[in-house]
Amino acid sequence: MRITDIIEKKKRGYRLSPEEIDNLIDAYMSGDAADYHMAAFAMAVYFQGMEASETAALTMAMAHSGHMLDLSALGDLSVDKHSTGGVGDKTTLIVAPLVASLGGCVAKMSGRGLGHTGGTIDKLSAITGYKTALDEEAFIRQASTYGIAVVQAGGVFAPADSRLYALRDVTATVDSIPLIASSVMSKKIAAGAHNIVLDVKTGSGALVKTLSDSRLLAETMVQIGKDAGRNIAALITDMDTPLGFAVGNTLEVEEAVAVLGGSGPEDLQEICVCLAGEMLALVHGGDPMQWRDRARVSLSDGRAMEFFQRWIQAQGGDARIAENTSLLPHAKHSMEIFAPATGYIAHMDTQRVGHTSLLLGAGRSKKEDIIQPGAGILLAAKRGDRVLQGDLLATLYSDDKDAFASAEEELLSAFVFADAPVVDVPLIYETIR
Ligand code: URA
Repeated sequence: MRITDIIEKKKRGYRLSPEEIDNLIDAYMSGDAADYHMAAFAMAVYFQGMEASETAALTMAMAHSGHMLDLSALGDLSVDKHSTGGVGDKTTLIVAPLVASLGGCVAKMSGRGLGHTGGTIDKLSAITGYKTALDEEAFIRQASTYGIAVVQAGGVFAPADSRLYALRDVTATVDSIPLIASSVMSKKIAAGAHNIVLDVKTGSGALVKTLSDSRLLAETMVQIGKDAGRNIAALITDMDTPLGFAVGNTLEVEEAVAVLGGSGPEDLQEICVCLAGEMLALVHGGDPMQWRDRARVSLSDGRAMEFFQRWIQAQGGDARIAENTSLLPHAKHSMEIFAPATGYIAHMDTQRVGHTSLLLGAGRSKKEDIIQPGAGILLAAKRGDRVLQGDLLATLYSDDKDAFASAEEELLSAFVFADAPVVDVPLIYETIR
């Protein structure tokens, strides 16, 4: 079948067979299908959608387009977690040692920041010496010895997805549920973990903004994981306000260290405990609620922190930051932002908060931009809080003083104030098992 016939069929809303999808991805990898074919295909999927069987076939074709990691040396203990992306989401830094401290083996490949959302690898790169690349043998050995290895996802895994994702980014086809589901799951399946927990974000700071779409995305990904023989669960969690108070790489490492030390923001602690509970229940069996209780103990008695220090040291990083976060790189300048009105914070456009951190230098607007590890935002108030006019709302950090004016304007435009208290929204909406 010609490539254009496959695109035509999808454009008209017909279901593609697994063979047609395999042929398309094979042709993309061999060069017989060009970027313009795939861009047209992505737009056809955007408008016509895909049935579950097509999404599953696209996932497996992209997973098999590159190297498939074999984690069988870790037995059934290997466990991965994936967040669909958020603002202030530093959960991997806490959840990985937490799960390792209770017998899981977190062998994980993470990404750099994408759009307005931060990336785990950028946060870990704020720690002096941390090696974001390990060869396969060293990666598996470290995961087996220390219970954790977190490296940057390399181009050898699901390369068809890397290419298609880059195309989607510039052809307005990112926000399609079958394309997101197949993109995420192709990487997870290629990365080899037997157990997978997905953190599907919902709200103004998430890629998928409504609960119904987030649910559909979560259910689609869970079904794909099960069909591929993996143990899998998904939590749908709130991203209508940043997670914790810190947004930006060093600031987020500091906040993660606080949680590992038994303090830190309650929302961040709670999400981490719930994600860990779900991961441990997949790994060992048993009730996720009981694993949550054990995870809380591990945070309060210092065991999770011990595993964090061993992990960072094993991967070449300066583990002294666990005791002394002033060793992390900090921004040269700071600026305080004050509340322009008295009232309750009724809404925070969380995508704008993420965008503010990019303006300060904490992320990239273009692929080649260099990140300032110390740049970012430390919020003093969040959705639901009551503030008086002139109260501190946030402190901005950057090496570039000139960035403050536009960052202040962007951040203030994210806040909506109201006279009456706002209704609380859940931190975790649903769990899909
Ligand atoms: N994250 C991914 O890995 N892929 C998507 O399509 C969207 C978010």
